[in-house]
Amino acid sequence: MSVFPTSDWVPPADPIMGVKQAYREDRRECKVNLGVGAYRTSSGKPYVLSSVRGAEALMLEANQDKEYRPIDGEPAFRNAVAKLVLGEELQTNVADCLSVFATLGGTGGLRSGGEYLALGGSKPIYVSSPTWPNHRSVFSRSGLTVEQYPYLDVDSGGLDIAGMLAAFERLDAGSVVVLHTCCHNPTGIDPSPEQWQEILSVVQRRKLLPFFDMAYQGFGESMDNDAYAVRLFVEAGIEVMIAYSFSKNFGLYGERVGALLMLSESAAVADIITKQMKFIIRANFSNPPIHGSRIVTTILESESLRAEWIEELANMRARVIDMRKTLVSGLLAQGYEGDLSALSRQRGLFSYGFLCAEHVNQLRHDYGVYLPPDGRINVAGLTTANVDYVIEAILSVMS
Ligand code: LMR
Repeated sequence: MSVFPTSDWVPPADPIMGVKQAYREDRRECKVNLGVGAYRTSSGKPYVLSSVRGAEALMLEANQDKEYRPIDGEPAFRNAVAKLVLGEELQTNVADCLSVFATLGGTGGLRSGGEYLALGGSKPIYVSSPTWPNHRSVFSRSGLTVEQYPYLDVDSGGLDIAGMLAAFERLDAGSVVVLHTCCHNPTGIDPSPEQWQEILSVVQRRKLLPFFDMAYQGFGESMDNDAYAVRLFVEAGIEVMIAYSFSKNFGLYGERVGALLMLSESAAVADIITKQMKFIIRANFSNPPIHGSRIVTTILESESLRAEWIEELANMRARVIDMRKTLVSGLLAQGYEGDLSALSRQRGLFSYGFLCAEHVNQLRHDYGVYLPPDGRINVAGLTTANVDYVIEAILSVMS
């Protein structure tokens, strides 16, 4: 008999990563993977940015050692992240009250942040409905109670701003609200600047703690515009947490590069936070990996590599925007009779809201088109070679 303290509980396959596995096992030539939110080139291949390769070449030449680095990460990396998120001026203004930690991807930032909140006996944490499915697992495994707030208005396909604000009004002070900075995952629906102002007002009035998930900076409009919400909240002088991912905008998925930023009311609180977070990180993974964060730092510190990266990011963004337009216009041209205006307004990697679980099953079974069960489409997985096939498949399962 096994000495492991096992139970009979078998966790369900991950709704996003599980799709990848099923896709791999499919032998059909026509298969298309629109599951995991990863960028693909115009020929459907994974993309390693040339700025990343350039940074790696410089790193190899520099022949750096592989020693352990500080528990919270290299100071140069932490500094570069803070400037990227907040912009130079704001970063300088809040530097004394800002704690930054290198984490294992954006997920590691959410998890470390979740553990910090649980350590302090935090109030429940509220995620949008719907949200990235892993939010619930990450925060509940951190020891937090996870609740939801309204986000998507199913009828209009837009943001349920009234529902969201009303829900926030009812929360106890100290409740944590998870907000997607831009390119909301999975809906692609973001608040407008005016709506962010309204959200900020209620967050301030109710003394809530906003925990931003910032995984798609640069995929909406631009690096600066996509940071609008966090900068607005930071400028307002309230305490915030931000989990940042470099997986998408630097294409560093498997390198697991991320950061957690915590802005507190004073340098004294920031000092305590830093000590507590270092304790949490040391007990979890000891100290962060160095390769990916060195790539990011090298790019951000080099004028030419940074310019190259910004251009590559703009090209990725433009290709996704183009594919979204092609998807919408193709569906309409091929006879789709519903209203797709909400779909055209969505931003970032995903398209959401018009396919149900039954459609998803049929797409997989009959056409080898793979999506997560919630019907989210990774638009970045569409190419000129597969988009017509995907449109035909969608129309067929919807007929
Ligand atoms: C996604 O939503 O597909 C990505 O964030 C990848 C992941 O870890 O789920």
